[in-house]
Amino acid sequence: MSDRGYLGTTPLGAERDDDAYLDFVEGARVFTLTGLSDAMRRRGEAAIAEAEQALGRKLTAIEEIKAVLDPIPVVASRNRFSRTVQEMMWQGVIDTYRKREPELLRELALADRLGPGSVEYDPNFPYPDYFSRVDFHIQPGGYFADPLAGYIYHYGTKVFYTGRNNNDDIHRELVEATPTPEDGRIERILDLACGVGQAATWFKERFPQAEVWGLDLSAPMVRYAHKRAVDLGLEVHFTQRLAEDTKFPDNYFDIVFVYLLFHEVPWPVSQQIVREVHRILRPGGVFAIFDFPSRPGQQLPPLAAYARSFDSHDNSEPYATEFVQADFHGELRRHFRYLNENWRPEIWIPNRVAIK
Ligand SMILES: C[S@@+](CC[C@H](N)C(=O)[O-])C[C@H]1O[C@@H](n2cnc3c(N)ncnc32)[C@H](O)[C@@H]1O
Repeated sequence: MSDRGYLGTTPLGAERDDDAYLDFVEGARVFTLTGLSDAMRRRGEAAIAEAEQALGRKLTAIEEIKAVLDPIPVVASRNRFSRTVQEMMWQGVIDTYRKREPELLRELALADRLGPGSVEYDPNFPYPDYFSRVDFHIQPGGYFADPLAGYIYHYGTKVFYTGRNNNDDIHRELVEATPTPEDGRIERILDLACGVGQAATWFKERFPQAEVWGLDLSAPMVRYAHKRAVDLGLEVHFTQRLAEDTKFPDNYFDIVFVYLLFHEVPWPVSQQIVREVHRILRPGGVFAIFDFPSRPGQQLPPLAAYARSFDSHDNSEPYATEFVQADFHGELRRHFRYLNENWRPEIWIPNRVAIK
């Protein structure tokens, strides 16, 4: 099987039919997120209002909210579509890359030894239970069990973001929006939980002089991230380590960037990660965080609570509800001297920036 080239920055599947199928799945996801979700919201809000009026009080318990929303046909259709489209997405990507597996594994092995940049990983890495027992986003094998997980995640998120990840668009936007330390010193940057390294490579583009690192717990992720960086000719160093135990020296980085990690680890691990970033970030350094909103002590509106519950159970996000309810801002404030909660480039993920 020969290299079929790229769709944006994503390696194509094995056959045109497979890419056409995944294009259809992307369209089905757009339909789910727009037409179906809008209809669900309209019908759901009306049903919640009726139920609250009949009861004479607000609905708060998730069981009560589910009892109202689950039986509504358009809600059930939207839930079924969400789940099935996600399953079709992963299976379609896995099936097509499986046909290219020998070629892709050779490509990874070759890139392991190439520069610029580097990759380090341990074939016997002891993955923590909180990570290894979860197939996040129902990706079969999660982030690490399939040696092609990096390829799979990249094509999967191309479909998932419905066009906004075709050319690292989101990561580029976030990197460009990341504030710099006030003293202007930017010698070392860390993309924490870097996944396939899309932010890390954009940091290298933005700050070519800086030493840029991507750290992730998953070996297939860092290997694929390194292969991408090699293909792009960018010197980035990727390493398989724990975000809560990075092994970097104290005060090492000028910028630590993290996109979508905290909601995917148990809350005590999030707290450890905040402490670890405080240790490795130098005074005056910038900690840029993009993740789910945290609303400790706040009751989510019924439809938002329903969506969070659906995502936790049907999209395998077991720690996200706990994260959203935890006092993440308070945790950051305990360790960082300044926190801007309103820093917001045009992106659907809320974000914060903390300065050490
Ligand atoms: C939702 S993905 C986000 C990836 C990446 N930040 C991006 O821009 O797409 C979460 C990533 O966190 C990694 N991860 C999860 N727990 C981790 C931990 N304790 N330490 C390091 N990486 C972790 C996963 O392997 C996965 O690549």
